[in-house]
Amino acid sequence: MTARTLEGKTALVTGGSRGIGAGIVARLAAEGANVAFTYASSKQRAESVASAAIEAGGIAHAIHADSMREQDVADAVTATVDRFGGLDILVNNAGGGVFKAIEDLTMAEIDTMLTVNVRSVVVAIRESLPHLGEGGRIINIGSVNAVRNPFPGLSVYAMTKGAIASLTNGLAKELGARGITINNLQPGPVDTEANPADGPNASNLLTAMSTDRFGTVAEISAFVSYLAGPDAGYITGANLNIDGGFV
Ligand SMILES: NC(=O)c1ccc[n+]([C@@H]2O[C@H](COP(=O)([O-])OP(=O)(O)OC[C@H]3O[C@@H](n4cnc5c(N)ncnc54)[C@H](OP(=O)(O)O)[C@@H]3O)[C@@H](O)[C@H]2O)c1
Repeated sequence: MTARTLEGKTALVTGGSRGIGAGIVARLAAEGANVAFTYASSKQRAESVASAAIEAGGIAHAIHADSMREQDVADAVTATVDRFGGLDILVNNAGGGVFKAIEDLTMAEIDTMLTVNVRSVVVAIRESLPHLGEGGRIINIGSVNAVRNPFPGLSVYAMTKGAIASLTNGLAKELGARGITINNLQPGPVDTEANPADGPNASNLLTAMSTDRFGTVAEISAFVSYLAGPDAGYITGANLNIDGGFV
């Protein structure tokens, strides 16, 4: 049984309908947090994530909010606070990449990566901060590609995740005196629909790793729950690789 270390806390997770975000929602709810989470297009799956968390004894609430839209992100923060009476933990997970040579990227693909992976994170943090108090937690889901790129086709995605690393580092200085931590988890390959462990790129990715397997959503979620919890108050401004020894 999972320890209920987050009892009484409220969390907002962006992009909780699938993949890593869905795992984070399940884990935080299992630890006793009230969890609101956003989705853009996967309504049914978001409802399933919420139902599963509730059936497991937790509290979860799906909010439609497209991270491409500033107002949606702001409204998701407001909806979380209205429903649960406050906000303690923000997890910026929504994101993704288009992986191809830079001269093949369209303006729309570049804008989407910049907006969802970077701008929406800034907006979510800006809108959440008035509600976060002593003990508040901000956890960003970056990528090990912020610092390691053994393969071509990752450059703009890597740039967006590098921006998150810089944001994390810089903001820690602004938030430390307020008792709020901010950290950036940088996963290596994790088995999700976006990057399946049996997908066409898997064997190539494994050549850059020390483990002989991808990470799991549960492993990333466990790290997030630790950073969200009371034992992690001295960790801030950190870019933490969880990557199977990706080089
Ligand atoms: N999987 C990996 O190997 C890996 C490695 C390093 C870092 N990461 C990072 O981890 C995060 C999650 O990745 P994942 O593999 O779990 O991806 P995924 O399986 O594709 O899931 C992405 C999630 O983000 C949501 N999302 C995407 N665009 C959105 C938007 N505009 N507004 C709101 N929500 C949006 C999706 O919701 P809808 O379906 O509703 O649109 C979905 O819930 C991303 O930031 C990714 O860059 C992943």
